[in-house]
Amino acid sequence: MKAVLAYSGGLDTSVAIRWLQVKYGYDVVTVTVDVGQGDNLKAIEDRAKAIGVAKHYTIDARKEFAMNYVMPCIKANGLYEGKYPLATALARPLIASKVVEIARKEGTEILAHGCTGKGNDQVRFDITMRALMPSCTIIAPIRDMNMTRDEELEFAKKEGIEIASEAKRYSIDQNLWGRAIEGGSLEYADREPDADAFRWVNVDPSLLPDDPTYMHIEFEHGLPVAVDDLRIGSNGKGAVEMIEYANEKAGKYGVGIVDHIEDRVVGIKSREVYEAPAALTIIEAHKELEKLVLTSHQLRFKQIVEQQWSMLTYSGLWLEPLRSDLDRFIESTQEYVNGKVTVKMYKGAFRVVARSSPYSLYDEGLATYSKGSTFDQSLARGFVELWGLQSIVANRVRSTIMRMEG
Ligand code: ARG
Repeated sequence: MKAVLAYSGGLDTSVAIRWLQVKYGYDVVTVTVDVGQGDNLKAIEDRAKAIGVAKHYTIDARKEFAMNYVMPCIKANGLYEGKYPLATALARPLIASKVVEIARKEGTEILAHGCTGKGNDQVRFDITMRALMPSCTIIAPIRDMNMTRDEELEFAKKEGIEIASEAKRYSIDQNLWGRAIEGGSLEYADREPDADAFRWVNVDPSLLPDDPTYMHIEFEHGLPVAVDDLRIGSNGKGAVEMIEYANEKAGKYGVGIVDHIEDRVVGIKSREVYEAPAALTIIEAHKELEKLVLTSHQLRFKQIVEQQWSMLTYSGLWLEPLRSDLDRFIESTQEYVNGKVTVKMYKGAFRVVARSSPYSLYDEGLATYSKGSTFDQSLARGFVELWGLQSIVANRVRSTIMRMEG
């Protein structure tokens, strides 16, 4: 019997191959989905084969990831708990769908992943796999065996499975949209992360450039179509390169680290550290352009939708119908989100310093405090009176009663 395993080449999934073989006697078919993790995919294939898999697939899904997962996240300003740009959360349903595709091709309904029972990834894999292949059996050896990372390392050693030295210190998940670093010394929430946790963002002050730099981002209907001179073509050509470029440029200036306490689906609070230079800068630029173009009513309501969208995506409900309902709302808000934004980056800090749009609602004539203002101030008096009416009445009523009682 065949089992199809989502294989990253890391500790969990390498241990999972061997466990599926010895415990269940399966012929293991591994699938490595390229979502821009930048790993050596040939080396991963060789590792799978060295552990004795029956067959290995490498699937390049980078463009699909960029266009169908990352771009909707940008339009949704997707930041879980206001901070985490959802890199891992976005990639999981795509990886799961590729595993299901291969399982169909291989004629099996036994699916496997290397997730632990403590994280969010099991939720994302299980739900997506079941939604796409309702009768599948899902095996998650690390979860099923209740293995700790140290036990896994021991098992790998005993079985002669080679593990990269970085994987011994941290649990890493990375893709085009970000890099999550967990475990090891990072589990002490009261301590600053060691510098060796970081790869994408320059954290060495002596290596940060002395002068600021600017990143120019252009949006069409909410979609980032150009970053500096890199432009995406029709059907997403160049989208991957554009995001990679933004990661590299912002990372070099020390921009892109997130360090926060995150609420996992399974109830655990965890200290999470991310590197996401492109995500943080592009989402900030997109938000700022929306502020120029959307009305205050649209912006306020969209924030509620964004929070809900991020929560669904984070918690493994990518295929929940509400998510596509929300996407339709979001899409509708993006109709006029066209324009250009400039982000300034300097020694780890970044901010938007300029924005413009043909659909801008910003009117200098209305906003100016200098001469030439077109705003009729005499209208304000009556407005303020009505705007505060209930607050003024409530205060008056309550203080009158208080005086009578006291
Ligand atoms: N906390 C993040 C999330 O749930 C990152 C998970 C990283 N996964 C990993 N296997 N290291 O999306």
